[in-house]
Amino acid sequence: MEKTIDEKIQGTPLILDQNKENTRKLFIESYGCQMNFSDSEIVASILAKEGFNTTQNLEDADLVLVNTCSIREKAEQTVRKRLEKYNAVKKINPRMKVGVLGCMAERLKSKFLEEEKIVDLVVGPDAYKDLPNLIEEVDAGRNAVNVILSKEETYGDIAPVRLQSNGVSAFVSITRGCDNMCTFCVVPFTRGRERSRDPQSIISEIEDLVNKNFKEITLLGQNVDSYLWYGGGLKKDFEKASDFQKATAVNFSKLLDMVAAKFPKLRIRFTTSNPQDMTLDVIKVMAKHKNICKYIHLPIQSGSNRILKEMNRLHTREEYFELIDNIKTIIPDCAISQDIITGFPTETEEDHKDTLSLMEYVKYDYGFMFAYSERPGTLAARKMEDDVPEDVKKRRLAEIIELQRNHSEERHQAYLGKTVEILIEKESKKSDQHWSGRTTQNTVAVFPKEQYKIGDFVMVEIEDCTSATLLGKAVGYSDNN
Ligand code: SAH
Ligand code: F3S
Repeated sequence: MEKTIDEKIQGTPLILDQNKENTRKLFIESYGCQMNFSDSEIVASILAKEGFNTTQNLEDADLVLVNTCSIREKAEQTVRKRLEKYNAVKKINPRMKVGVLGCMAERLKSKFLEEEKIVDLVVGPDAYKDLPNLIEEVDAGRNAVNVILSKEETYGDIAPVRLQSNGVSAFVSITRGCDNMCTFCVVPFTRGRERSRDPQSIISEIEDLVNKNFKEITLLGQNVDSYLWYGGGLKKDFEKASDFQKATAVNFSKLLDMVAAKFPKLRIRFTTSNPQDMTLDVIKVMAKHKNICKYIHLPIQSGSNRILKEMNRLHTREEYFELIDNIKTIIPDCAISQDIITGFPTETEEDHKDTLSLMEYVKYDYGFMFAYSERPGTLAARKMEDDVPEDVKKRRLAEIIELQRNHSEERHQAYLGKTVEILIEKESKKSDQHWSGRTTQNTVAVFPKEQYKIGDFVMVEIEDCTSATLLGKAVGYSDNN
């Protein structure tokens, strides 16, 4: 659930409370990062006011929307396969309309309508408020496209609907877009320039969640540490702000501090952190508040300084180690996870070994590892040849995954015999007699249900573990209830 791309929830249709007055049926499903799942909740909220109820049944739908991901070629292929499925259903239900949302819509724009004849509607990530107009166009028998990227849109004024969630943990988006221009990454092209959301609207959304009994929130952005509110506007225009705007600006450590102080019983997480933007202040704020979870997702991508430079990651291996050392000194039991790309253009065996040795140094709790996938339009695609053979990428990836598995197991074994606080989120997938929840370090723990219920903070003694899960028994409530 935590990692931006969660394989288990890919393609899950979103289901909301039914409004009796609404007569049209919307089937909406999402692929890719957590931001897409959050955006779909905003889209559903907009369309609920336009006469749509959600349905889980594709065959019943008047409108099918798919929120898409472009991060790797495989993600796009998955969506194309879904479009084939919709096409088959459209043959039975010809009045059904199909719309593509999200990053693929933005990347391919109106080309989508030529390539995929069944698509009626193409809407980029900043244009969801225009959906009512676009749907009118489609109803009138015309195709509709809006892929304009915005300087201001943060959807701060739209209350997303959360009924698909477990009622315990929710994502709250705080920034949109990304200015980092990592050379492999399509996100700056599909999600536009970086902008931050008004802290007041963030706090009121969290307040609402707390009132609805949510126990954990994750502040969400492509690059949360870069959050900067100075009254609105792009991050890159901050230099031009007035002295007053500069003096009253809120950066990420301030936002985190404000949220943690205001909601002392709420567990607070955030993702994703780019090492080049994470400050010592953020780590100090984490250490200051008990309710900020001891977990940082800190993608490294490569352990080689030469490759980091080619990727336009604006830090070195040594600076990353310094950050890791600071985290471990200031928050000794903090968990750290990674993203790694293997087989970036020109990556040699030596570079690969640097990645393995970096992993040995950090000993990540877990990680998300990918083979490089060339994305059209990115700097790497334009300037570098995708020259690492597929079999070499695969072999290096397997080595990285194997090493991570060992480290995860080693990390998890350190919990054996300890008693840790778990927030219960749901029933265990493997057994209806067990609850599943997470530690502050974001590790999943499973234990017998007894008298406890979803949303309780419980102290659990850890007795056993696998490389992915802790197993234990509850010994009582935590004092956070
Ligand atoms: N800052 C974002 C990163 C989004 S992409 C966030 O919120 O997590 C998530 C991960 O996908 C990246 O960290 C990177 O490891 C991987 N990735 C991005 N582009 C890729 C590509 N072209 N090929 C393979 N993996 C890629
Ligand atoms: Fe992509 Fe780098 Fe931004 S990975 S989302 S360009 S921080």
